[in-house]
Amino acid sequence: MLPAMAGMPVAYASTAQTDIPSLKEVYREDFLVGCAFSERDLSGARLSLIRSQFNVLTMENAMKPDALRNAAGGFTFGLADSMIASIGRDGLPLHGHTLVWHQQSPAWLNRDEQGGILARAEAERNLAGHIESVAGHFAGKVISWDVVNEAVMDNPPNPRDWRASLRQTDWLNAFANGAGQSGADYVERAFLLAREADPAAKLYYNDYNLDGQAKAIAVAAMVKEINDRYIARGNTRLLIEGIGMQAHYHIRTKPEDVEASLKRFVALGVEVSISELDVFVTGAAETLTPAQEKMQAELYARLFLVFRKYAAHIERVTFWGLDNGSSWRKKQFPLLFDASLAPKEAFRAVTDPEGYLGIALETPAVSAQNTEAPANTPASASGENLPAEAPARSTGFPWWAAAAVAGIAAGIAACLLIRRRKKAG
Ligand code: XIL
Repeated sequence: MLPAMAGMPVAYASTAQTDIPSLKEVYREDFLVGCAFSERDLSGARLSLIRSQFNVLTMENAMKPDALRNAAGGFTFGLADSMIASIGRDGLPLHGHTLVWHQQSPAWLNRDEQGGILARAEAERNLAGHIESVAGHFAGKVISWDVVNEAVMDNPPNPRDWRASLRQTDWLNAFANGAGQSGADYVERAFLLAREADPAAKLYYNDYNLDGQAKAIAVAAMVKEINDRYIARGNTRLLIEGIGMQAHYHIRTKPEDVEASLKRFVALGVEVSISELDVFVTGAAETLTPAQEKMQAELYARLFLVFRKYAAHIERVTFWGLDNGSSWRKKQFPLLFDASLAPKEAFRAVTDPEGYLGIALETPAVSAQNTEAPANTPASASGENLPAEAPARSTGFPWWAAAAVAGIAAGIAACLLIRRRKKAG
């Protein structure tokens, strides 16, 4: 789907810089790095950039229910199939997005011709018909699926009650209609159907704002209960194997909140994917100011330090698009490449987060007291080999900066340990 106004010609960049680091190489030991793509990305400079930077893809729109179904209830697999054939030639694996969602879905899935909500039995038939046919059709072609997208409300007041925290969608209401129950079981039903239709695919629950703790608590409660029930029935594999944190962030997003949710999800025994990453610069004018570029780049760097710390549990980090010019939020300049496909400061930050943030371990504050350690050897994870009295104080380096360096050095040490463990495994 082109982002420009209907009828307007769209010019996309025809050249891309090739002498730059590759994201997929930088994070090869950590996780897959991907981007959302559309038909326009499958040739020329855009395809070259994708090939050089990414090792997994998600279709931005072409596998959503409204793209795969026509008004008569039939299937329209043509575009998605041709896109799969194209990326298959490049050996790029595909994540499927998405089977069940309240947006970009034909109304007839859960409403009648007069616009009334369907009765449960009919909605159940439609859910099964969609998932069996779509997941069945793409079996062997996707590595994983977002089975249910955005089923939980924002800021649920009582998040431990996940049923009460579900968003009021047509699926929920149709499953409740005449059923004498809440309809919340549509989520579990969707996962069971997807498992049957494509047992090889990893099944994800995907949502946004999961750095908000109330929403994260509700999602965790839902995933845990559904998985516990599945295991109690004698299955050895989880039903919901992954949680996708969409990660549509903005410059005030707090990496600590992202980390808190990652911890919460990892504790459930599921894997996590950062599934739709972008960082909006709210209030941006025609272009980003140098200060805005820097603020965005710093947040990207901090986020990637967090992702690396949890790399053992993160399967994939996918950006929601290739460049600012084609982004769904292009006015907020959210991605790593500008509209001419040139790497932004944020790209530099992501390819070397430690370096970008100036966390060189040989900064005077730390290295002066660690002269025996070879270059690039981090301080112990606990930071205990740092002097109690920060040397920075006597050299005029502010104490808070020394403390920050020590803390971040400890983080990097933890990252390196995880990466080494991962590599060994
Ligand atoms: C967006 C696409 O990027 C747009 O092109 C489309 O017009 C609307 O959907 N959460 C999701 C994605 O799960 O599917 C959405 O993608 C962005 C929010």
